Amino acid sequence: MQIGIIGAGNIGRTVAAHAVDNGHTVVVSNSRGPASLADLVETLGPNARAGTVAEAAAFGEIVLEAIPYGAYESLPADELAGTIVVSAANYYPERDGEIDLAGGTQTGLIADHLAESRVVKAFNTMYYETLREEARPDAPLKERLVLFLAGDDDEAKSTVSEFIEEIGFAPVDVGSLRDGAVMEPGSPIYNEPMTPAEARAALERLQE
Ligand SMILES: NC(=O)c1ccc[n+]([C@@H]2O[C@H](COP(=O)([O-])OP(=O)(O)OC[C@H]3O[C@@H](n4cnc5c(N)ncnc54)[C@H](OP(=O)(O)O)[C@@H]3O)[C@@H](O)[C@H]2O)c1
Repeated sequence: MQIGIIGAGNIGRTVAAHAVDNGHTVVVSNSRGPASLADLVETLGPNARAGTVAEAAAFGEIVLEAIPYGAYESLPADELAGTIVVSAANYYPERDGEIDLAGGTQTGLIADHLAESRVVKAFNTMYYETLREEARPDAPLKERLVLFLAGDDDEAKSTVSEFIEEIGFAPVDVGSLRDGAVMEPGSPIYNEPMTPAEARAALERLQE
């Protein structure tokens, strides 16, 4: 699969590494331009190249956006129309400044901006070092760590779930993009490594 990465920091480069390790091709991008990513693409190997944000957006069958939340309006909505966009961004007001969520969810605001994209919230609940170190593609699903996901497009979620499984984690679907509020910072399932059984119990407790 062709995967575009917008934001090549902690999360973006970790997902990019898992993608190339599993035979996918990636175009990585950041705000400073492809030349600044030369070392990264050398580390990632021949299945990776650097591009502009627009090139990464156009390249990906899946595009991961892993940029600071406050920069979401720079995501190129036209180039991302029709594409599965995985949003890993988290909103921290003290870091990102005051942003009016208009009563919606963090990813809802991004989905409004990317109105023609198939937005899936995923990869936001796990610390990047855990994501980098704890992949267990050879272990049964029940023994792996969970990556939660949410979204309104079932087919897009199933594509993202397959990718999550392939790279060695266990996908757990929490429901619609609005339901994805339970994946936001401060939630009991946020940044808490857990197995699928633990995840199901935690989600049940949240519904009580
Ligand atoms: N760190 C984690 O463990 C973790 C876990 C889950 C989710 N997240 C979320 O994922 C997002 C990224 O976190 P991170 O820790 O990976 O951040 P990071 O290491 O600071 O990396 C951010 C990346 O985004 C790029 N970027 C910034 N503004 C951009 C723009 N307008 N267009 C394109 N690229 C842009 C930066 O490029 P330049 O360097 O060229 O500016 C950099 O490559 C945040 O929303 C964070 O809350 C982080």
